[in-house]
Amino acid sequence: MTNKTYRIAVIPGDGIGKEVTPFAQAAIEKAVQDQVDFTFKQYDLGAERYLNDGTIINDEILAELKTYDAILLGAIGDPRVQAGVLERGLLLRLRFDLDQYVNLRPIKLYKGVTSPLSNADEIDYVVVREGTEGLYCGAGGAVRKNTPNEVATEVSINTAYGAERVVRYAFDLAMKRRKHVTLVHKKNVLVNAGDMWQRIVNKVAQEYPEVTHDYMHVDAATIYVITDPQRFDVVVTDNLFGDILTDEAGATVGGIGYAASGCINASGEYPSMFEPIHGSAPDIAGKGLANPSAAILSAGMLLRNFGFDDQADRIEKAVERHIELHGNDQCATQEVGDEILSFI
Ligand code: IPM
Ligand code: MN
Repeated sequence: MTNKTYRIAVIPGDGIGKEVTPFAQAAIEKAVQDQVDFTFKQYDLGAERYLNDGTIINDEILAELKTYDAILLGAIGDPRVQAGVLERGLLLRLRFDLDQYVNLRPIKLYKGVTSPLSNADEIDYVVVREGTEGLYCGAGGAVRKNTPNEVATEVSINTAYGAERVVRYAFDLAMKRRKHVTLVHKKNVLVNAGDMWQRIVNKVAQEYPEVTHDYMHVDAATIYVITDPQRFDVVVTDNLFGDILTDEAGATVGGIGYAASGCINASGEYPSMFEPIHGSAPDIAGKGLANPSAAILSAGMLLRNFGFDDQADRIEKAVERHIELHGNDQCATQEVGDEILSFI
């Protein structure tokens, strides 16, 4: 029993985020029981709030969120709101303002899950996606908008500082795993950023003589994610490549119903945020059909990030047991959630 109370801000967000997040919170409560004190506070940020009173997030809420130990997030996005408004204004604002520079995305094929790959014996790697730079910075703009001569630019920002801190994280993580790091980029075309990333990997690698490393162009990586996922242990890559690659990788391990992620401020200066990789899924929202497993696994990642490995293991094992019993075709939120909770 520790004396510290862990304060968690919960942002269920939009669509199925609202349906799966309560199970993530309940999983934490059940896993820690009376061993650790967790308190939760709900924040009604997302489309509904924005449509009601125009608030996406503000400085006051942000300042408050910074005081928490972690954030549990559901999903952001709603067809009633123009694309980008909530994604940039809320989700990316949180990732950027809380400096969550490591977007950690484990890709693991759980026993019992049917992979669309015919050669999927074992898939177990982690993508360390950079979380605060690249094409996500919002650098760029439009001129002559809505004219035939419109110009639109999106500029990719890459700093040595930003790349080095995730590369270090990747090598540290590799030390706890199979000791192999793969840099994924497109250095044959993006010669400025790609070359910088490669030099940083080469430099950091010298401090980790036990860790081997290699390089793969992102287009080739999309092939190996399908044909030879066993070659990956820790993949480190930039923000947009990591976004795309993890959707593809998620699909190989049974779809994004099982893909969890952590937006991690590894320096500990601000809270980290844990969320399923899936979106708000407006097409099935409100129908009770969303699989809460990814959200529950994200809750496990939250616990692991605090060092509560036993409790995190219990959550993971409960999800695994559910999959072993039912495969990945059962999709009633309440049923799946209740049964997983009963196994924790
Ligand atoms: C993700 C999502 C987000 C991203 C969107 C919703 C901004 O696709 O978490 O992967 O691109 O990072
Ligand atoms: Mn994505």
